[in-house]
Amino acid sequence: MRPTLSSTILGATFAMVATMVMAVPIASLERRDVFSPPVIRPGAGEVWPKGTWQMVVWNTTNAPEQITNPVGKIILRSVDKGRLLLDKPLATGFNILDGKYNLTVRNDIDAGQYQVVLMGDSGNWGPTFSIIDSSFVDQTDSDSEEDDWYSEE
Ligand SMILES: *[C@@H]1O[C@H](CO)[C@@H](O)[C@H](O)[C@H]1NC(C)=O
Ligand SMILES: *[C@@H]1O[C@H](CO)[C@@H](O)[C@H](O)[C@H]1NC(C)=O
Repeated sequence: MRPTLSSTILGATFAMVATMVMAVPIASLERRDVFSPPVIRPGAGEVWPKGTWQMVVWNTTNAPEQITNPVGKIILRSVDKGRLLLDKPLATGFNILDGKYNLTVRNDIDAGQYQVVLMGDSGNWGPTFSIIDSSFVDQTDSDSEEDDWYSEE
């Protein structure tokens, strides 16, 4: 059955109304403040052996009362390759207002120079530190290196 003119107009009207209704929460979100807390730890020159527990710390002093996205995510940026390790996050699903997160350094990444990138409300890169191989950690997943990297662009 072909749509009649009136049903087409009705459909278009519904689409317009739906767009207007959708626009309300988006507009109220835009009134909130953007929060990009500075990363304090790992500090410049710090060394993280793979498989060890490490604390990521960031400064929440200037956090606004309402932020657009409180759910934080910690990922690595390789300084050597200039790329983000988006598929190997160190931590996800915590509150960005916590100010710290205790995590285990993944074994399935290359040793090298990194920055911690704190994402949530907006991204923020920390100081450059190193991840090194740990002699007592079993290196089982060291293949397919290049496929694991994503461009920042
Ligand atoms: C956190 O940020 C505030 C405001 O910029 C600053 O005064 C304070 O020294 C910072 N704290 C640390 C531990 O960096
Ligand atoms: C991080 O968590 C591990 C395991 O629960 C614990 O052994 C370690 O002491 C914690 N580190 C800090 C700094 O809280």
